[in-house]
Amino acid sequence: MKADERWSGVYSFEDSPFIMEVLTELRDKNTDSIAFRKGLVKLGRYMGYELTKTMDIEEVDVKTPLEKTKGVIVRDRRNVVIITVLRAAIPLMEGLIKVFEHARVGIVSASRGKAPKFEIEMNYIKIPDLRPEDTVIVADPMIATGSTLIKVLGEIEKYGKPKRKIVLGVLAAPEGISRIKEQFPEVEIFVAKVDRELNEKGYILPGLGDAGDRAFGAP
Ligand code: URA
Repeated sequence: MKADERWSGVYSFEDSPFIMEVLTELRDKNTDSIAFRKGLVKLGRYMGYELTKTMDIEEVDVKTPLEKTKGVIVRDRRNVVIITVLRAAIPLMEGLIKVFEHARVGIVSASRGKAPKFEIEMNYIKIPDLRPEDTVIVADPMIATGSTLIKVLGEIEKYGKPKRKIVLGVLAAPEGISRIKEQFPEVEIFVAKVDRELNEKGYILPGLGDAGDRAFGAP
């Protein structure tokens, strides 16, 4: 995990060869839907493992069949709420939930309008109440303009004040990160990689194309 010096609280997993290999497969235009979905599940799982490194741990006593020793509990792992931004985050959530098996899950459906405004419509919102001990992970593979996430993060504020708010994505454009950080400086952002820029249609470059279309084989 590497802190990005351009912002505070933004981290990439560029230092993880495994995560970079999965990302390479996702970028490849010849990767089919089945492999693409599997890749997103893998990233959810491995980025989830990485996230546990940022969580508080508690030392506990444990008795093996042979003797007493010390062990650990990642207490915050038990207080995770995953907010799934439809549709491309579904496979990412499937991976995350393997690490955060106790997680409560919220679903948000948002669609992005056309250029140049890219206005966001929230079509469906189901978010559990948020407790002070919760870590909220908003899963959205592609942080492009940041507009969807800004809407979702604004909505989340109505459900309570959690301990941490995290956005977990695969790729981000610097423009999107800056916009989110301006409005929600307390939100931590974790992505496999921060890419170069957005094109005029709002796609991340070099990117991987439309994550939803590629995962589900349907534009
Ligand atoms: N959403 C995607 O799926 N891909 C992009 O490049 C930008 C937004």
